[in-house]
Amino acid sequence: MFASTVFKRGFASSAVANKKVAVLGAAGGIGQPLSLLLKLNPLVTHLSLYDIVNTPGVAADLSHINTNSKVTGHKGPAELGAAIANSDVIVIPAGVPRKPGMTRDDLFNTNAGIVKTLAEAAAQHAPKAHILVIANPVNSTVPIVAEVLKKHGVFDPKRLFGVTTLDVVRASRFVSEVKGTNPVDTKVTVVGGHSGVTIIPLLSQTGHKFTQEELEKLTHRIQYGGDEVVKAKDGTGSATLSMAQAGARFTVSLLEALSGKKNVVEPSYVFSEVAKKDGVEWFSSNVELGPEGVAKVHPLGELSAFEQKLYADAIPELKKNIAKGVEFVAKN
Ligand code: NAD
Ligand code: LMR
Repeated sequence: MFASTVFKRGFASSAVANKKVAVLGAAGGIGQPLSLLLKLNPLVTHLSLYDIVNTPGVAADLSHINTNSKVTGHKGPAELGAAIANSDVIVIPAGVPRKPGMTRDDLFNTNAGIVKTLAEAAAQHAPKAHILVIANPVNSTVPIVAEVLKKHGVFDPKRLFGVTTLDVVRASRFVSEVKGTNPVDTKVTVVGGHSGVTIIPLLSQTGHKFTQEELEKLTHRIQYGGDEVVKAKDGTGSATLSMAQAGARFTVSLLEALSGKKNVVEPSYVFSEVAKKDGVEWFSSNVELGPEGVAKVHPLGELSAFEQKLYADAIPELKKNIAKGVEFVAKN
C-alpha cells in the first residue's frame, strides 16, 4: 500500500536517498506493527530495531519480508549506540502504556527516565537525527528530550516532534461516523497537546455544521478516544495498531519531506510560537515539513467561541506538563 502511494506521488528514484530509521521500543505493542509498516516503505533503507527485550526475533522475522531495506536488531543498553548511530529518524514508542483508571501523566514516573536515557544516546550517537516521540505523556516527554539535547548542545527545534497524529486520525473517523462521510477525505485539525483537555479539535474548520450536542459529544470523544481503547483492552494496554498506523503515517510524511516532496503538512507537537503569548512553548498544530524537518508551523486560524474556551482550558494543563518535563531533566 505504501509503495504504491509513494510511487504514485511521483518520486524520482534519485530523490529516494538512503534513510536509516531507528525504532526504540521496537518489540512492543506499537513497536512491532510500526516496524512492519516501515519495513514496507521503500523510503526506509535501513530499519534499526532497538528494545531491552526480543529485538533479535522481531528483526529476524521482519528481515524475511522481500522489500529492499536492511533490518538490524539490537537488544539492551550495550547495543543502543549501534542501533542509533547515523540514524536520520529516531522513533520512540518505548515506555509503559496506561491501564484503566490511569491518566497519561501517571506514566511520567516510569517513562520520563526511559525517554531521557534514549534522548542522551540520540544526542551522542545521532545528534542530527529527527526525533519522533510517541511515549506518553507526550506533553512532558517531548520537553524532556529537548532539555537533554540542549544539555548536549545539539537541540534543533526543527528536528524534534511529538507524535499527535492519532488524534487527527481518530477525529476523522469519529466525525465521519456522525456526518456519513468517507473518513479518508474527512480532515479535522486538532491542536494543543496529547491528553484530555489539552486535545483541542477545531471542528468549526471542517466545513461541516454541528449541533451543540454533536459538538460537545464529538469533542469529548476526540479528547478521550484513548480511554475507549484502554477500557476495551481491560488492563492489557492502550492503542497499538491505530497508533502504529498513525506513527507510520507521520514518519513516512517526514521521510517524504526530507526527500524533497513539497507541501507535506502533518499535525505535530513542536517548539512553537502559536501559544507563546500564553506562556506555552510546546504546542501541536499543523506543521509543514521540509528537507530540514519543521519548515513552517501553521497558526490556528479562526476559533469559534467554543474552541476559544477549549484553548483556555488547555493552557494551564500544558504549562504544568511542560514544566514537569523541564524540571525532571534539571533535577536528574
Ligand atoms: P508496550 O509495553 O507494548 O511496549 C513498550 C516497549 O518499550 C516494550 O517492548 C518494552 O520492552 C520497551 N521498553 C521499555 N523500556 C525500554 C527502554 N529503556 N529502552 C527501550 N525500550 C524499552 O507499550 P505500547 O503499547 O507499545 O506503548 C508504548 C508507549 O506509547 C506508551 O507510553 C503509550 O502510552 C504510548 N502511546 C502513545 C500514543 C500517542 O498518540 N503518542 C498512542 C498510543 C500509545
Ligand atoms: C492514545 O491516545 O491512544 C495514547 O495516548 C494511549 C493512551 O494512553 O490513551
